Amino acid sequence: MQNFEFCNPTRLVFGKGQIARLATLIPTNAKVLVTFGGGSVKQNGVYDQVKEALRQHDHVEFWGIEPNPAIETLRKAIKLGIEENVTYLLAVGGGSVLDGTKLIASALTHPELDAWELVKKGYSKTYLPFASVMTLPATGSEMNSGAVISCKTLQEKFAFYSTYPQFSILDPEVTYTLPPHQVACSLADIFVHVMEQYMTTPGQSRVMDRWAEGILQTVIEIAPLLKADPTNYDLRCDYVLSATLALNDMIRMGVTQDWATHMIGHELTALLGVTHGESLAMVHTALLTVLQEQKRTKLLQYAERVWHLTNGDEDQLISQAITLTKSFFQSLGLRTSLSEAGAGKEIIDTISQRFTERGAHFGELKNVDGEMARRILEKAL
Ligand code: NZQ
Ligand code: ZN
Repeated sequence: MQNFEFCNPTRLVFGKGQIARLATLIPTNAKVLVTFGGGSVKQNGVYDQVKEALRQHDHVEFWGIEPNPAIETLRKAIKLGIEENVTYLLAVGGGSVLDGTKLIASALTHPELDAWELVKKGYSKTYLPFASVMTLPATGSEMNSGAVISCKTLQEKFAFYSTYPQFSILDPEVTYTLPPHQVACSLADIFVHVMEQYMTTPGQSRVMDRWAEGILQTVIEIAPLLKADPTNYDLRCDYVLSATLALNDMIRMGVTQDWATHMIGHELTALLGVTHGESLAMVHTALLTVLQEQKRTKLLQYAERVWHLTNGDEDQLISQAITLTKSFFQSLGLRTSLSEAGAGKEIIDTISQRFTERGAHFGELKNVDGEMARRILEKAL
């Protein structure tokens, strides 16, 4: 195990009716900028609960942070934040609203930089206080310091690191209104988050491995149940917590990480508009296939412990595990190949070239560069 330092400062406030806690969790002397997406919160009652809880707080609203939050939209929110002298940010929505608001909170402390320059820098060590009401279990943004920001004009999408939320409210009941496709994308996202931190170097940490395998098995188990029984509260609790635990730094203590599926997936989203979780379903099993020699020991462990495969030689076990992973994404109703999204050679050339120009080398062995990305994408066709 490698040396590591762990500090996750986010207070999780979990359960029914907890949005009312905003009234006491946000200081009453704060000037709050409350950010929203396109309006789902008005349909599921979240907006009314937030407004009721913030009755005593001076606050302004910003609407319209879209899926894959765009810098063009976020610049408008930053301008509003400056005009209104806000001192506190509250994001209410899915990962996109949270991520966009992390950037706003950071950009408000960097008046010298254009917000896209800040994204390209990759991080900010300063930010205004930030908290969230998370309505979509997927990204883990409610308990991590990451944000992924897009530029529509340039068709680019990059990760940016800054603030953990001071607190995040998770009420599983507010997820009942998620459209089935969004649930499917989120389950793929949770699954691949775990794989990015698990399917790497063998023999690093028993406890990290078992934790990761537990989340993978939970996601596989609850996926069909969520579809069959969409308003089952206990199921929703497991769904919400799986998302948080998959990407709140807990399963990556002292172990190597991959993230190449995500980096290639971001390009598919930036260039083709594919929803984040579905972009991962298109790439992930192709990556496992291309890198199966490097990941061999871990793939065998995954085959046995996650899919309970025991019959066959090593190559057969690995191939069955990869096939079952692909079938899992398909059972969610997601596309698992580039051609299903109308993508072909041109997209592969563009992504490969972008990786080469940027000097990319992702993956636990840092060997996913432009040429390796090409091989993976050709496999994903
Ligand atoms: O915009 P509204 O109207 O609110 O509707 C949203 C949006 O259309 C809707 N939605 C959210 N909660 C709902 C709901 N609809 C009904 N009921 C609810 N309770 O869902 C749609 C998608 O929302 P979005 O926030 O875009 O989805 P998600 O949470 O999957 O976030 C995706 C973004 O997060 C980034 C992705 O790249 C993408 O940009 N990621 C962020 C990460 C992080 N911060 O650590 C890591 C991830 O790997 C990921 O890259
Ligand atoms: Zn993701």
